[in-house]
Amino acid sequence: MVAASLIFALTAAFAQSAPSDTTLTANPVFEKNCAKCHGKTAEGRHFGGPSLVSDKVATISADDLRNIVTNGKGHMPKYRGKLTKEEIDTLVDQVKALNKR
Ligand code: HEC
Repeated sequence: MVAASLIFALTAAFAQSAPSDTTLTANPVFEKNCAKCHGKTAEGRHFGGPSLVSDKVATISADDLRNIVTNGKGHMPKYRGKLTKEEIDTLVDQVKALNKR
């Protein structure tokens, strides 16, 4: 079981654009663009970004999340033109999935 998920994580890390059924933290797009502020585990960093796993984020709709990532918010940079629409959609799906409990 551990070996199987390790292989899964490695496969996801090497895939060019991760399918939306992988987790956010295994998505290379997240690791490259978001982890420096939101942390490798997406649980936030001091002086960086807030946790992406929170009651607050759980209440934000997919449309609003897409809007935040696309257009930025406060100290959160905008990713319009830096990431494709598909990459942003995948990130939003994965943020949503992380908050489904
Ligand atoms: C330069 C640091 C930085 C980077 C890089 C960054 N963020 Fe953020 N992010 C922030 C900050 C700061 C906020 C809080 C914005 C506010 O509420 O004013 C935020 C807020 C968010 C929120 C809303 C959460 C909330 O509680 O309001 C989401 C979703 C989010 N970021 C996703 C991402 C994604 C996905 C990426 C990568 C594509 C990313 N961020 C990259 C700093 C960053």
